[in-house]
Amino acid sequence: MNALCVADATQKPVLVEKEIPRPKPRPGEVLVRVHAAGVTPTELAWYPNSHTRNGDARRDAVPAHEFSGEIAELGEGVLGLSAGQEIFGMNDWFADGALADYCVTQPAWIAPKPLGLSHSEAASTPIGALTAWQGLIDRAKLRAGEHVLVHGGAGAVGVFAIQLARLREARVTATVSARHIGFAKELGADQVIDYRTARFENEVRDVDVVFDAVGGETLRRSWSVLKPGGRMITIAAGGEIAQEERVKEAFFIVEPDREQLLEIGRLLDAGKLRPFVDAVVPLSRAAEAYAGTVERAGRGKLVVTVLR
Ligand SMILES: NC(=O)c1ccc[n+]([C@@H]2O[C@H](COP(=O)([O-])OP(=O)(O)OC[C@H]3O[C@@H](n4cnc5c(N)ncnc54)[C@H](OP(=O)(O)O)[C@@H]3O)[C@@H](O)[C@H]2O)c1
Repeated sequence: MNALCVADATQKPVLVEKEIPRPKPRPGEVLVRVHAAGVTPTELAWYPNSHTRNGDARRDAVPAHEFSGEIAELGEGVLGLSAGQEIFGMNDWFADGALADYCVTQPAWIAPKPLGLSHSEAASTPIGALTAWQGLIDRAKLRAGEHVLVHGGAGAVGVFAIQLARLREARVTATVSARHIGFAKELGADQVIDYRTARFENEVRDVDVVFDAVGGETLRRSWSVLKPGGRMITIAAGGEIAQEERVKEAFFIVEPDREQLLEIGRLLDAGKLRPFVDAVVPLSRAAEAYAGTVERAGRGKLVVTVLR
């Protein structure tokens, strides 16, 4: 089968197209015919693409850990799923991803594809929606009436952070660039700040929860807007190597979760959550997608279509 693999992830990671054997699902696993996969550009440099879980060097990892497709084959002992069923999901970071004709996944990492969504739309949702869910609901325990500041509100994760916070009946302030102000309001943000022309710390204070998808200077300046006892959540690349204790505590990495994905699927089907596909490119242009050279509007997720 055709796949794109991360070559030499320890130096400057690049994607290389390869013919590799079609994987065979082992007992308990599921083989998926991939239709579309979501792109997280920073992923190529992440530790699991260059290392196995026990720390050994890893070569030829297949990236793109969120996908939509149909079940091609079931490993021994898998119950409750059937060949041909349409699913969407997110693979564990140490497993291979979906930038390939087929990918192996597990029942605990997938859920039925929302019926009303195309494969591209479905593939654009798992990482963004699960990250927002695990940050706002699991970790911050966001409650109705609380005030949340979402940094990076028009991005692939930010669009779900705004929508989920609104579903929780929180008051939402979002930081975006000027071109996305109207969009962030449409998503439900009560207050939108153009991060290039205004300093958010002059506009908000006593925030209950900061959800930071930007990091760096933005994260450093955000502590001052939290009320005493307020909760900081950061997902931005860089948090993983942070030395500061409070940043380490605020940072987390999203994990697959079937129960949450089922609920996200129900919300998508009901139109209570909306997917945002920023641009779609074929597998032959995946390297451009990761290099950031694909033209896009900057709202939501870049998706690669795999099924030709
Ligand atoms: N820890 C995890 O589990 C996890 C999961 C997913 C993603 N991530 C990381 O989270 C980050 C965001 O991911 P993403 O997929 O949402 O990225 P994305 O789609 O590229 O979105 C990033 C957004 O941030 C905005 N932005 C840039 N600088 C900003 C600033 N100073 N203030 C406010 N907004 C700003 C950009 O807006 P403009 O383009 O308009 O400037 C863009 O909309 C990345 O670092 C990614 O690696 C982590």
